[in-house]
Amino acid sequence: MGHPSDMTGKVALVTGAGGGLGQAVAVTLARAGADICIVDVKEDGLDETAKRIKDCGRKALIHLADLSVADNCPAAVAATVKAFGRLDALCNVAGVLKLANSHEMPMTDWNLVMAVNLTAPFLLSKAAIPHLLDSEGAIVNATSIAAHMGQAYAAAYCASKAGLAQLTKAMAMEYLKTPLRINAISPGGMVTEIGASFVPPAGADPELLGRYRPIRGLVEVADMANMVAYLASPASAGFHGAVIQMDKAVTAG
Ligand SMILES: NC(=O)c1ccc[n+]([C@@H]2O[C@H](COP(=O)([O-])OP(=O)(O)OC[C@H]3O[C@@H](n4cnc5c(N)ncnc54)[C@H](O)[C@@H]3O)[C@@H](O)[C@H]2O)c1
Repeated sequence: MGHPSDMTGKVALVTGAGGGLGQAVAVTLARAGADICIVDVKEDGLDETAKRIKDCGRKALIHLADLSVADNCPAAVAATVKAFGRLDALCNVAGVLKLANSHEMPMTDWNLVMAVNLTAPFLLSKAAIPHLLDSEGAIVNATSIAAHMGQAYAAAYCASKAGLAQLTKAMAMEYLKTPLRINAISPGGMVTEIGASFVPPAGADPELLGRYRPIRGLVEVADMANMVAYLASPASAGFHGAVIQMDKAVTAG
């Protein structure tokens, strides 16, 4: 039997691959045999990810791009296909978090959260789907427990992640009669750099913030990356239209 997430000879595009979960996903997929186009705004992070991919004996294409700019999304897909000649998996992992009182949220923050967390996965999927239909590939979207529960001071983030969960299900239904598979994961809290953006507004109510405290603890980035790699690979053939919560029961009750 091969590797449970065997990606030998396959090509993946991973956004948010300059750190955190995206970096772990890119390296996990490389370990499983894939060549990877890694996309992020963080140049030093991409260099590190590329090094780790090459250490696995796979090829890395560094694609430095701001995915909040719409035209950069199809360009990332085009660069991947130009370099590697195919695309088997699109992993939409890049994300941003902005906390605020809703009545004070700057429109620039609202627009950025929507652009990176929701519009970019749509535009990347739009450009990738013709290639993924050819390769019988997969899309994996990184949502959040915020897609499933209202979180105080996180209206934009919750709305963007719930939107991404529904985008996943709607596209899964649309491509139901094709071999393309489209799924999402909803991580609970993980230790990554996005934690630095978890800055509640002045005067935030600790009781409201405490309502989604992870009593069993945080989720390991490596565990989440293994799940994304599994969903990106043919090994997960039974999954289509799933939004999988890996959150140690934070959303269970
Ligand atoms: N860490 C958590 O607790 C947690 C929980 C639930 C969901 N998530 C989601 O998991 C995903 C990965 O986040 P993470 O925890 O690894 O955080 P992270 O901040 O380490 O990684 C996010 C990556 O996205 C990149 N990015 C942000 N804006 C971008 C843009 N405009 N263009 C290109 N790249 C951009 C960042 O540079 C960063 O490398 C995100 O979608 C996040 O919302 C994280």
